[in-house]
Amino acid sequence: MRSLNGSIGLLLAFAVLGSAQSPNPAPAAKVEYGRYLSEEVAKCTGCHTPNDEKGALDRAKLMKGKVMEYAPIEPIKDWHKTSPDITPSGRLWTRWGGEKALVKYLTTGLTPKGTLAGPPMPTYKMSQQDAEAIVEYLKTLK
Ligand code: HEC
Repeated sequence: MRSLNGSIGLLLAFAVLGSAQSPNPAPAAKVEYGRYLSEEVAKCTGCHTPNDEKGALDRAKLMKGKVMEYAPIEPIKDWHKTSPDITPSGRLWTRWGGEKALVKYLTTGLTPKGTLAGPPMPTYKMSQQDAEAIVEYLKTLK
């Protein structure tokens, strides 16, 4: 009986915790997969996160955009010296009208204007699933 009560208590705790979250939160596994893709595979983090004074990524400003630390030796047309803030509170999300545009961009390489981004931003043609996971991860950033 004791253990049964214990499990009911646990269930209740989960129910309460669950109801405190926003509607339809992304499963933790999807967010973690998006973090893994952003940090380890596509390397968005390195190019879109400013460095601290020691030159390491400033993790308090994840994906907040930065002045790139490198430039081409030979000139490259349309080279961008800065990367934008790609967190939901940044101007880009507002300008692009939200997450759908970002998912579309990551699956097609095309911005809402139908153009490609300038170098050194790579052109990604990800699967819908991977693009959605990255966007769910971005949504967890301030
Ligand atoms: C090699 C460095 C680099 C990597 C890796 C990188 N970015 Fe970028 N990104 C940039 C730069 C520089 C720009 C600015 C180019 C521009 O605005 O045309 C940019 C622009 C963007 C834009 C705006 C595009 C536009 O035309 O306005 C988005 C959205 C974006 N990046 C998201 C991402 C995501 C998500 C990832 C990982 C999947 C990623 N970036 C990986 C450097 C990078």
